[in-house]
Amino acid sequence: MIKEKEENNHLFFGGMDVVELAERYGTPLYVTDENKLRHNFKSYKEAFETTDTDIYYAVKANGNLALLKILASEGAGADVFSGGELHLTKSAGIPVEKILFNGNSKSEEDLRETVESGVKVSVDSLDELRALSAVANELGKVVEIAIRVNPDVSPEVNPKIATGLKESKFGIPFHDVIPVCEEAEKLPNVLLAGLHCHIGSQILDITVFGEATEKMMALVERVYERGMQLKFVDLGGGLGIGYRQEEKEIAPTPKDLADIILPGFEKKTHELGINLKLVLEPGRSIVGATTILLSRVNAVKRADKNFVAIDAGFNLLIRPVMYDAYHEVVVANKVNERASELYTVVGPICEAGDIIAKDRVLPEVERGDLVAILDAGAYGFSMSSQYNGRPRCAEVLVCNGKVDLIRSRESIDDLIRNQEIPARFG
Ligand code: LLP
Repeated sequence: MIKEKEENNHLFFGGMDVVELAERYGTPLYVTDENKLRHNFKSYKEAFETTDTDIYYAVKANGNLALLKILASEGAGADVFSGGELHLTKSAGIPVEKILFNGNSKSEEDLRETVESGVKVSVDSLDELRALSAVANELGKVVEIAIRVNPDVSPEVNPKIATGLKESKFGIPFHDVIPVCEEAEKLPNVLLAGLHCHIGSQILDITVFGEATEKMMALVERVYERGMQLKFVDLGGGLGIGYRQEEKEIAPTPKDLADIILPGFEKKTHELGINLKLVLEPGRSIVGATTILLSRVNAVKRADKNFVAIDAGFNLLIRPVMYDAYHEVVVANKVNERASELYTVVGPICEAGDIIAKDRVLPEVERGDLVAILDAGAYGFSMSSQYNGRPRCAEVLVCNGKVDLIRSRESIDDLIRNQEIPARFG
């Protein structure tokens, strides 16, 4: 996170005193900085400006409509994984020509929706290809498709977020891709337009992107050798960000990614004498560092460890629990005080595993203090739940010292919405 001016010992974010934000909107509270978001998206556009590239933001990382509208205004397309995400992107004004509907398990309804709305579909299996062709045929429409390739590439990331391994559930095995393309050419109402892969997430050693590019471009060559043509190659998302101080120093930038991908991509398109669009699907590297989660300290307990119990747990940020992920924690009303004690920061959820940050040296913490959990913009709110009967929190957008509410706090009514009590219960 970029360090801003710190006044009265308070953390500032997007030009706002976060202690005031917490007082005004209550906690927990997600706070997103609009300028950081625009900056992150622009860095991709600049890094890839020498090549015909579209950036399809991965909506799963953060589907807030205000953020999507900002990205739409910067020229983003979208990678969507469900009818819900498709609806969000369309209502944010992202044009359907720039939307790719992904997923390894699409229902009949999903297939219909993609065909009717005119978005491209990334096909994950032969089974799905045949079903999609049948739906498009029935609706009398042609649907552009990409074949999701399993490139068998192993990034060094948590196994839960490595998606391009041979044993992963995603994509068509590398050696089956050409026969599937050939079948697509024969099937009615589907138009083969692209090859697609996504190798994993939070990738810091980006050499694997070079490997994936090579493999994908070798497939492109084979597609053309067999007399078929393509419009685009989509190399997915996955660029990691610096969550830890030492990672911040080595975290690769979109420019570093371009330097790894573009030589192999351009060499092959020149060799083949073809024009292909490059598509990328970054999520985390666009939104991760744009957002902090503010949470109030409810209790400090000196036990086997020093526990700081805050009002946000894995109901609002599941990453530490699910992936052992590290998020920096700052005592937002004591930013100039010396870090002096070891604390473990825990949430309010009734599970011993509800730990947000283990063994951190922080200034002396007291009940009522405000904690900021950094880099919470990707897979934070979007993975939240109402577990333990906790309504989800609010989100605000800050920009040059101004603030807007972009999602209201849920109420108790939201917990019971859609629940029905059988009439026979009286
Ligand atoms: N494209 C596809 C097909 C994907 O499956 C994903 C992420 C992305 C793009 C975006 O990847 P990114 O640029 O954000 O790394 N919940 C996990 C991450 C799951 C990623 C799922 N797929 C986490 O919190 O670390």
